[in-house]
Amino acid sequence: MKSTLLRSIGILAACLLAAAALPAADQGATLTLDASKSGPVINKNIYGHFSEHLGRCIYEGIWVGEDSPIPNTKGYRNDVIAALRALKVPQLRWPGGCFADEYHWRDGIGPREKRPSMINTHWGGVVENNHFGTHEFLDFCELLGIAPYVCLNVGSGTVQEAMEWVEYMTSDAQSPMANLRRAHGRDKPWKVPYLAIGNESWGCGGNMTASFYADNFRRYNTFVKNYIPGPAGRIARIACGPNEGNYEWTETLMKDVGNRMNGLALHYYTLPTGNWRGSKGSSTNFAEDQWFSTLQRTLKMEELVTKHSEIMDRYDPQKRVGLVVDEWGTWYDVEPGTNGGFLYQQSTMRDALVAALNLHIFHAHADRVTMANIAQIINVLQSVILTDKEKMLVTPTYHVMEMFNVHQGATSLPVALTSPDYAVGESKIPAVSASASRDAAGKIHLSFANCDPNQPVTVACRLTGVTAKSATGRVLTAPAMNTHNTFSAPDAVKPAAFTGATVADDTLTFVLPSKSVVILELN
Ligand code: AHR
Repeated sequence: MKSTLLRSIGILAACLLAAAALPAADQGATLTLDASKSGPVINKNIYGHFSEHLGRCIYEGIWVGEDSPIPNTKGYRNDVIAALRALKVPQLRWPGGCFADEYHWRDGIGPREKRPSMINTHWGGVVENNHFGTHEFLDFCELLGIAPYVCLNVGSGTVQEAMEWVEYMTSDAQSPMANLRRAHGRDKPWKVPYLAIGNESWGCGGNMTASFYADNFRRYNTFVKNYIPGPAGRIARIACGPNEGNYEWTETLMKDVGNRMNGLALHYYTLPTGNWRGSKGSSTNFAEDQWFSTLQRTLKMEELVTKHSEIMDRYDPQKRVGLVVDEWGTWYDVEPGTNGGFLYQQSTMRDALVAALNLHIFHAHADRVTMANIAQIINVLQSVILTDKEKMLVTPTYHVMEMFNVHQGATSLPVALTSPDYAVGESKIPAVSASASRDAAGKIHLSFANCDPNQPVTVACRLTGVTAKSATGRVLTAPAMNTHNTFSAPDAVKPAAFTGATVADDTLTFVLPSKSVVILELN
């Protein structure tokens, strides 16, 4: 009796001490990790990127040409090559976007000075000289070990044009298109594992109805061939999918196309104001209301993925068709003084949180979400890299994608999370988001995000099915919500070693700083 009383007093005292150690409003988060159970594999393609002929993404971003004073390898910027190598980009989408449905691939092959120009009607009305074409894109992917994801022109092209492009890129025969490729200096075909059959066919890609597009998918799909026999030559075909919550589109595509497609593309952009017509909000000049609305709106991805997956599950319970979120990210007003058609914006600590939340959502739905492409890779929308002539910087979004790349191809592990709320006015979202996985070497990684820009959160993780002695990792945080990297201060936001985690018995405990993203490895 006496010993029970003493133990109770001891526990009470320990609880009071622990509570006293927490900052005033820190209600703490709890997480249970069950490492004895495995979830689906997190497809590395979830960490994909998007490069469109838009603004300064291709020209100035990736490509400066062999004669540029900017250090380059065969015309590709050396600084960009190094940054993308470190990022471990698994797949890259090209040439658009809306641009893809006006792109005629034959204009982008052969001697550059002889290539015809075109007007880029969607993006600033600038003249595109076609100096970056099929060879330049596929060679770039090959140089970096990235899988190319090529979007065919369905809106203004022809089936024959698409069919011949695929033959040009992937056939090893003594055939007309393969020989044309050889005549332009490339003997062996490239490996092109992913093809999109049009882009946003419900909008800039032709304003089609779902059933008209479904018929077009079936037609293009018939004539686009796998020229190399066997699994190595199999090309996955990704259909244009829904815009945001257009569930009828998904229903029609699943009904009329079904397993003829390997993936269905979903597009969802995060706008702080949710307003496509008026101001979308500034990328750097915002107060807490827009910090909050941005994070709240980006969490809509969870609802979209869940509801589209439910429809897909009815037609495809074996999950043969992947949900491919091949455009996602923030979309703000362009940087003052820049071309409105170039979509150039900065990326702050807020974007780092957006990236972490979306990647966690994709991990949680890894049974259905097989690919994703943040828009876009350089100098456009939520970029991981910005360039200014010879200068280059990586953004907070880059750092999150690099820190999280340990999840690529790893097996997801179930986590049960209880988070305090982060509230602004009457609205609230969970402050903490988390994900866990085990990689091929058996290492367990946990990633966390704290959306609250004011309060740190103490996280207690109960570890089951694994024994750990310690946890080490990195943290990304910044003094202000809008801290960002500039060409004069390129390291204002960068990851630092995270040393605050302790493991006692079966519990990992640490304080997640306000507005932060953390990656931990269990040792
Ligand atoms: O990423 C910018 C544009 O957004 C793409 O070209 C288009 O597909 C989408 O509407």
